[in-house]
Amino acid sequence: MELKKDFLWGGATAANQYEGAYDEDGKGLSTADVMTQGSLHEARKITWKNIKTGEVGYVEMGMKPIKFPEGAVPAVIKGYYYPSHVATDFYHRYKEDIKYMADMGFKTFRMSINWSRIFPNGDDREPNDKGLEFYDKVFKELKKYNIEPLVTLSHYETPLNLAIKYGGWVDRRVIDFYVKYAETVMKRYKGLVKYWLTFNEINVMSMMPYMGGGVMDPTPQNIAQAAHNQFVASAKVVKLAHEIDPENKVGQMLAFAAVYPLTPDPKDQIKVIEDMHQTLFYSDVQTGGRYPEYKLEEYKREGIKLDDTPEDYDLIKKYSADFLSFSCYSSSVTTTHKDKIGESRGNFVMGVKNPYLKESDWGWATDPEVLRYALNTLWDRYHKPLWIVENGLGAVDKVEDGKIHDDYRIEYLQENIASFIKAVEVDGIDLMGYTSWGCIDLVSAGTGQMSKRYGYVYVDRDDEGNGSLDRIPKDSFYWYKKVIASNGKDL
Ligand code: BG6
Repeated sequence: MELKKDFLWGGATAANQYEGAYDEDGKGLSTADVMTQGSLHEARKITWKNIKTGEVGYVEMGMKPIKFPEGAVPAVIKGYYYPSHVATDFYHRYKEDIKYMADMGFKTFRMSINWSRIFPNGDDREPNDKGLEFYDKVFKELKKYNIEPLVTLSHYETPLNLAIKYGGWVDRRVIDFYVKYAETVMKRYKGLVKYWLTFNEINVMSMMPYMGGGVMDPTPQNIAQAAHNQFVASAKVVKLAHEIDPENKVGQMLAFAAVYPLTPDPKDQIKVIEDMHQTLFYSDVQTGGRYPEYKLEEYKREGIKLDDTPEDYDLIKKYSADFLSFSCYSSSVTTTHKDKIGESRGNFVMGVKNPYLKESDWGWATDPEVLRYALNTLWDRYHKPLWIVENGLGAVDKVEDGKIHDDYRIEYLQENIASFIKAVEVDGIDLMGYTSWGCIDLVSAGTGQMSKRYGYVYVDRDDEGNGSLDRIPKDSFYWYKKVIASNGKDL
């Protein structure tokens, strides 16, 4: 089998990392707008204010759920630098950027709608017209070039008020606010958008419930409830999307964490299964349509009881995702042999260094087989169309004589694209498309840095917020254009 003729080649972004204009035209704050910049060695901070005492402070973002001090609410505090506030200014430069995408031959562009641009507080009665108008313009511009949008409804940017007032996705009322938001945008952009993703990397809820769902009190019980509420919301949105327009297709978005065993010790194989369950639980429910037994047993053991209804489970079963999309950048290694645990890290996964793989400057292993591995795992489990919606190399780029020679990025992408093409040609997997991450440079979600760049187009902005925001195509821009034109034949 070959890649489909209408294979959806493109790139991916998220509003809070790309748009900027964080308080323009009536936009409300989102959970991302109170996150400062960090680095590989310094965690991002989420700043807060105590409404009663006026005291200010911060909690550090990590790969564990964050708890805020009593009475503290996330807030923008003077003196801190928040990279989402300007990001790389897609809000004002969308025409120029979409033109770059068209020049590369993009068939699709993944972006998110910033929920708090449409409903500034999340629970507003009426949407913000100015916010809706912005996306009218973006979708019309994409249409001009026949670029199909792929729209994430929630990409780590829950309206901040929902976190403060309701504790985030733990509260079932948030389901209704989200469904109302989805209905508003799906009706408004009918005919312009047909591919939707409900929640970016829904499984990140387990590790980073503030980012995943504005969860302020991340007990195991609350995390389980917030995930359940997102499953129900997702099913309701699948139902709604099909009613609004039968052309609509709604996908799940999973952060696929490939885990390999370090040794042939059977205990390590079982550890791999258990680690993978932490990820696959989310696709078992949202794409598979049912809660898996291993999770129900875990909830029983831990005394977790969901606030649920029989109708929830009917919805989850009947309105599972139409397709399964995922992010995948690298793989990690696990073991039960504690003495072998090292310093390696990927996005959201701490692990052991893989002696067969090199690592990026941020410690993410470059795995030339991982996409084939991911695609086979997910295809064998669900037999639903798949879409790789994030992959890429975060690296420091240098501008030399107005050019960026990013051969390291090209090399990474060559290997990764070859890997998914094999999954189609050799394994016969139904793959809809590929949107590499951060096609135009944007802010890193993990570290908040600008210097961790993924783009085909360089943006002149540094970690301190200096720079003209001017764009320069990198060498990878011309390379990707050739890849798309040859439908993956010319790598
Ligand atoms: C994914 C997220 O986890 O990885 C993106 O969906 C993120 O928002 C991307 O930017 C790359 O991670 P990072 O930390 O390098 O930006």
